[in-house]
Amino acid sequence: MKKNILLIGGSYGIGYALAEILKEENTVYIASRTAENLDSSIHHIPFDANSDAINLEMLPYPIDGFVFLPGSINLRPFKNIKIEAFENDLQINFLNMVKVLQTILPNLLASKQSSLVFFSSIATNIGMPFHSSVAASKGAIEGFAKAFAAEYAPKIRVNVIAPSLTDTPLADKFLNNDVKREKAAERNPLKKFGASNDIAEMAAFLLSDKSNWITGQVFHVDGGMSTLSVII
Ligand SMILES: NC(=O)c1ccc[n+]([C@@H]2O[C@H](COP(=O)([O-])OP(=O)(O)OC[C@H]3O[C@@H](n4cnc5c(N)ncnc54)[C@H](OP(=O)(O)O)[C@@H]3O)[C@@H](O)[C@H]2O)c1
Repeated sequence: MKKNILLIGGSYGIGYALAEILKEENTVYIASRTAENLDSSIHHIPFDANSDAINLEMLPYPIDGFVFLPGSINLRPFKNIKIEAFENDLQINFLNMVKVLQTILPNLLASKQSSLVFFSSIATNIGMPFHSSVAASKGAIEGFAKAFAAEYAPKIRVNVIAPSLTDTPLADKFLNNDVKREKAAERNPLKKFGASNDIAEMAAFLLSDKSNWITGQVFHVDGGMSTLSVII
């Protein structure tokens, strides 16, 4: 049976790649600010997670899958980060997700078993200079996901994907010329930075019944960067 999957974000980046994988076998809803790339098979809901409350009347019942895509990569030395910047990162990466989740919870509980996928970052698993704000907000996602997974098992499964640098509009400033792209690929044990599809395939698996015995996990889809050292 077709599942109803709600993506917050998905007009481009990893969410778009995910929607392309999902749309054949599922009914996909994307709530985002823009929609130019989306075809008519996707149900688009105009939505800004920073300011809007999600409108339940535009959403399916039940919701079988939920993915929250918005994120930030603001890298700065700690001494230059104002408290407002920490608050802003926490809002974008974590609090906006909580707000949506509280609203759609009845729809998720109406599913036989719903699956949630959230996004962390390699910077939460290994310490990286200048990443204190984004690492902290993604750390909130990881802690929340495990607690929520425990509280709502077996009705709701929750997993997190923690990518390293992946070629999307969010990461453009790190990959916008050949030198940056070569260096980024060279730093990775598998000698390539991520493509949206590398991450989206894992998200699609976690949304599917193929992963029905997996919950409360953080998956490091990062070319081995968080666990392998290639320096001898
Ligand atoms: N790319 C990387 O290198 C990387 C690395 C580690 C972790 N991650 C994490 O992976 C996740 C996906 O990243 P990505 O690279 O695909 O990001 P992206 O290229 O910025 O795409 C984000 C998606 O979310 C939507 N979005 C952003 N702000 C929104 C808002 N306020 N309200 C509603 N929708 C909003 C965007 O659509 P609209 O603009 O149309 O609203 C877009 O569809 C993020 O959580 C990110 O932190 C990415």
